[in-house]
Amino acid sequence: MFRGKEMREPDCRDFSDSLFQAVLIRGMKQNPIIVALDVSGIDQALRLVDQLHDLAGAFKIGSELFTLGGPDIVRRIRDTGASVFLDLKFHDIPNTVAKAIASANQLDVQMLTVHASGGLKMLLAAEEAAQGRQPNPPLVLAVTVLTSFDSNELAGIGVQANVGKQVERLATLAISAKLRGLVCSPLEVVDLRSILPASFQLVTPGIRTGPSGDDQKRTLSAKEALQAGANWLVIGRPIYAARDPRAAADEILQSL
Ligand code: C5P
Repeated sequence: MFRGKEMREPDCRDFSDSLFQAVLIRGMKQNPIIVALDVSGIDQALRLVDQLHDLAGAFKIGSELFTLGGPDIVRRIRDTGASVFLDLKFHDIPNTVAKAIASANQLDVQMLTVHASGGLKMLLAAEEAAQGRQPNPPLVLAVTVLTSFDSNELAGIGVQANVGKQVERLATLAISAKLRGLVCSPLEVVDLRSILPASFQLVTPGIRTGPSGDDQKRTLSAKEALQAGANWLVIGRPIYAARDPRAAADEILQSL
């Protein structure tokens, strides 16, 4: 088993080296499942963390929960020992994004997101701010084109490229800014892997085991996404909306 010096012991099961080597980030667990806490109650979020702490590599706090619970919910989840992915998708002038990341550093989050469309200077400022926390700077993930966008929607904001080309352009920008990861659709993973440095961390939502009955249309199963080259899987409703979230998370883990 490959272990970084500062890795904690994995909480759950062993994964084979080949598939999970790239998953290792200092301070993070080896389980690739990130549970999206897209719930509207603080108690519900904390209950999920309690139920799933040994079955999840990290918990994602997005705008909904953060707007409700603020920094306190981040601290409370970090206090349980769980890793936190702060998904607030920062997009602002470089100085403001750098300060927002400096604030996130105080909360000791392990991953956070910025919009790659904020431009090279903003991305450079974001990574520099993240590196301000040593050791263990948070992993700054670039969001390329939101999965809710199609080429028409891009044209509506003045971008003439199709979605694939725009994703590629923004991924290249993230590389230029020395970022170390990005968020993408599972169906973009293979193409992105061909242009990204091998160490680049790819985080994919859109994970479903069967046909999705919700708004995720372009999906892969957890195993397929990892085989395509994803490092981390963001999974929300299939876990938190399941009758038994623990059984659902365990079933996904077993499937890997
Ligand atoms: O419930 P579900 O598994 O679809 O949750 C996916 C999570 O990933 C949500 O928190 C959603 O906001 C996030 N996400 C996404 N697509 C993106 C970026 C983030 O679904 N392109």
